[in-house]
Amino acid sequence: MTSYAGVLETYRPFLDIPAHTRTVTLLEGNTPLIPMPKLAETLGGGFELLVKFEGMNPTGSFKDRGMTVAISEAYGRGAKAVICASTGNTAASAAAYASRAGMRCIVIIPAGKVATGKLAGAVAYGAEVIQIDGSFDDALNLVVAISERHPIALVNSLNPYRLEGQKTAAFEICDVLGKAPDWLALPVGNAGNISAYWMGFKQLHERIKTTLPQVLGVQAEGSAPLVLGHPVEHPETIATAIRIGKPARAEQALEAAEESDGRIIAVSDDAILKMQKLLAANGVWVEPASAAGVAGLAHELERGTIDLKGKVVTAVCTGHGMKDPDIITKDMPKPHILPSEMSALEDYLAREK
Ligand SMILES: Cc1ncc(COP(=O)(O)O)c(C=O)c1O
Repeated sequence: MTSYAGVLETYRPFLDIPAHTRTVTLLEGNTPLIPMPKLAETLGGGFELLVKFEGMNPTGSFKDRGMTVAISEAYGRGAKAVICASTGNTAASAAAYASRAGMRCIVIIPAGKVATGKLAGAVAYGAEVIQIDGSFDDALNLVVAISERHPIALVNSLNPYRLEGQKTAAFEICDVLGKAPDWLALPVGNAGNISAYWMGFKQLHERIKTTLPQVLGVQAEGSAPLVLGHPVEHPETIATAIRIGKPARAEQALEAAEESDGRIIAVSDDAILKMQKLLAANGVWVEPASAAGVAGLAHELERGTIDLKGKVVTAVCTGHGMKDPDIITKDMPKPHILPSEMSALEDYLAREK
């Protein structure tokens, strides 16, 4: 029996990586592509909707795909330390893979804007967490500068090996569907993921003549530099993972939208939270940013600006709901309190029917 060996080994011939790369893996990838027929009906019906649930990766987000490759490359060339700026998921992922490789991991996070589950992950995996009084964009400037002056490997998505790993999600989707979807919808923050998907789909198109999807990138309204056409100095959104005002991969993201005959749009925080609830009502609990892709589809359908009739649509849900529990627990109704007796439970069931 050959067992699954993670994205690097599974797709090695398709990855542009140096020979010195030494695999550090947590068997990331191979995430489910979940059919969502009920949600498709709620959105108007007539198309097939599948969610690529990236929250099922080892540290709970898509970042693991790129991190296995970035850390494997750094480890193979003898790096002893890695650094990243993060809204949280990159930090947890970098920390997990660095710990596996026995490397030091330093993460810089923006003050007060990182969800509890992500911070807990970074700490649990042993990262040195440094909070700055600034935004993600400030943190990124800092880690780029420091990695140029010191022998510390930068593992943000500016690192090309991150994208090499992340593009494997496009390969998996095509492997399962036997073709590319007609549309791919996903959230956009620093724009590494949208760029990586497009690289992956184009590579398959060139090598084995698969079709290409149209790409719908979705930002949050208060943090939508790619929609506005200029950086946003003080980005704000409940979807902290995409609270980024100056995306490092802006040009590539705009290219992906244009070349694919797709687009990048913005949706409100309310729409994101509404879609988070709808996804959960269909059994898929994602963190707020991860609901943005499907919220974008709903937005376009409501306005009649997208025709999905007869189409196969894949929405990428990038991170697990457990990453950001506070967004749920802050408004959570208190549990019903009953005596520990069968009759009390029976009364309750009859009453609440
Ligand atoms: C859960 C989640 N979704 C989406 C994104 C956006 O991805 P990218 O920054 O590659 O655009 C991030 C980035 O941190 C994320 O953590």
